[in-house]
Amino acid sequence: MSDFRKPPLRSRQWFGRDGKQGFYYRSWLKGLGLPHDLFDGRPVIGICNTWSELTPCNSSFRELAEHVKRGVYEAGGLPLEFPAMSLGETQMRPTAMLFRNLASMDVEESIRANPIDGVVLLMGCDKTTPSLLMGAASVDLPTIGVSGGPSLSGHWRGRPVGSGTGVIEMSEMVRAGTLSQDEFTEAEACMQRSKGSCMTMGTASTMASMVEAMGMSLPENAAIPAVDSRRFRLAHLSGRRIVEMVREDLRMSKVLTRAAFANAIRANAAIGGSTNAVIHLLAIAGRLGVPLTLDDWDALGSRLPCLLNLKPSGEYLMEDFYYAGGLPAVLRQIAAHLDLDAATVNGRTLGQNIADAPCWNHEVIRPLGDPFKAEAGIAVLRGNLAPDGAVIKPSAASPHLLRHRGRAVVFEDIEDFKARIDDEALDIDESCVMVLKHCGPRGYPGMAEVGNMPLPPKLLRRGVTDLVRISDARMSGTAYGTVVLHVSPEAAAGGPLALVREGDFIELDVPGRRLHLDVPDAELARRRAAWAPPPAPARGWAKLYVDHVQQAHLGADLDFLAGGSGDAVARDSH
Ligand code: FES
Repeated sequence: MSDFRKPPLRSRQWFGRDGKQGFYYRSWLKGLGLPHDLFDGRPVIGICNTWSELTPCNSSFRELAEHVKRGVYEAGGLPLEFPAMSLGETQMRPTAMLFRNLASMDVEESIRANPIDGVVLLMGCDKTTPSLLMGAASVDLPTIGVSGGPSLSGHWRGRPVGSGTGVIEMSEMVRAGTLSQDEFTEAEACMQRSKGSCMTMGTASTMASMVEAMGMSLPENAAIPAVDSRRFRLAHLSGRRIVEMVREDLRMSKVLTRAAFANAIRANAAIGGSTNAVIHLLAIAGRLGVPLTLDDWDALGSRLPCLLNLKPSGEYLMEDFYYAGGLPAVLRQIAAHLDLDAATVNGRTLGQNIADAPCWNHEVIRPLGDPFKAEAGIAVLRGNLAPDGAVIKPSAASPHLLRHRGRAVVFEDIEDFKARIDDEALDIDESCVMVLKHCGPRGYPGMAEVGNMPLPPKLLRRGVTDLVRISDARMSGTAYGTVVLHVSPEAAAGGPLALVREGDFIELDVPGRRLHLDVPDAELARRRAAWAPPPAPARGWAKLYVDHVQQAHLGADLDFLAGGSGDAVARDSH
């Protein structure tokens, strides 16, 4: 029986037509073998697929999409799969982040332009999650997220090897002369043992956790391994559920409220999540008009403990996390800090979803009263070196460096860094502060993950494992160290970072939330007068990006992409 309170489905503007227009819209789709009765007014579900062999983390998505389709058909919908620009973190140069906003435009326009009533987003490798959420948010149809899931745990010579984290650890051993290149090469295949995203708490696992914490997926989305049958069951159930969401008109904006973002920030602290989540959530919130600021990260999440003993901060891997209970078990532990009334895509509140979530392994998911790290989350620093803010993840830093004053060793850009870091004559010791410029949104361009600069070999050989490092770059969620990131404004935009010179002294005070360049104002003014912006790209996407990208503290979205344009399209194509 039809419900007269609800507006007709959007897809009826295409398929519910007679005459030439209806013929156009239906006939070519019938070329797929679809019978006429599938155009009878049932919800049309777009499955946005980021499958690509150049994004190996998402290479299980063809199979995943088939399971979504089963669920859509069972629930009485019509699934139509479409591709979106896929961003492979390990292959794309100069950095996949340069293309996050471009992919979001692809997703937004693909959804809006087509006869779609609801959307399933297949997301995995780092940037594929925020780009799809950003694009879908600007259309605001009923939308459900299905993450691809982490790969199986890496094992090499009897010990676990975590994606990314293991690479960083072992490459430092090669540079220190304690691991051979042959051994290092052998470890490549031992780390990535299956399809799936990085199995550490890197950016992909963090963002999959954010999707679940914000209520944008069914429970357990974050941690089920990519090749586990339960991942495909979750895809199947998500296919069923999106059809119901269309019938309920449960749009993305009804789920992604400020409460959802606040829950995600707190969840990020409890899982020891990536600093990249800061930029991505700010950008997603910007598409929905949800008020969220950089300072919310510190105010909401920085005093919470980290419960999860996972690499890069801890010992275990995502498979262990799933077997221990997954994200619902973590959220249940921090329930007192969450808005339990927040809506989720399954129609229940977050509180209802996690009320009975069991924990099966308290070594992996530690109790709130005996956490893995006492204070986690993201600390937001300010000072004359970062007037608009910078971030640090204290749980991944060395406690003895959280308050530190040191002499700056300055690298003007990534080429300067690579040319000099292995030089035995480099004037650096463990008390120094490494500074890297021109790696922000405009500077790289694209804000690369180079902020966790490798240490000089001569210090590695002496057993030094951490130095204070400061940049306008990002760092991989799989990385660690006392690394100050996202300095805003960036050097290429004329931020004070551009004015730092070799030998200046810098004060880092994480408990006091301060980042200070100890140079007199008059001297800084002299340096500023002599500063000139670096050359900008002349054409193409890079030019559009550099001309319009916002600074890190605003989420690094393009200025003209803030907000959304809804789902309406006035004109036919013929
Ligand atoms: Fe794709 Fe880490 S490189 S998830």
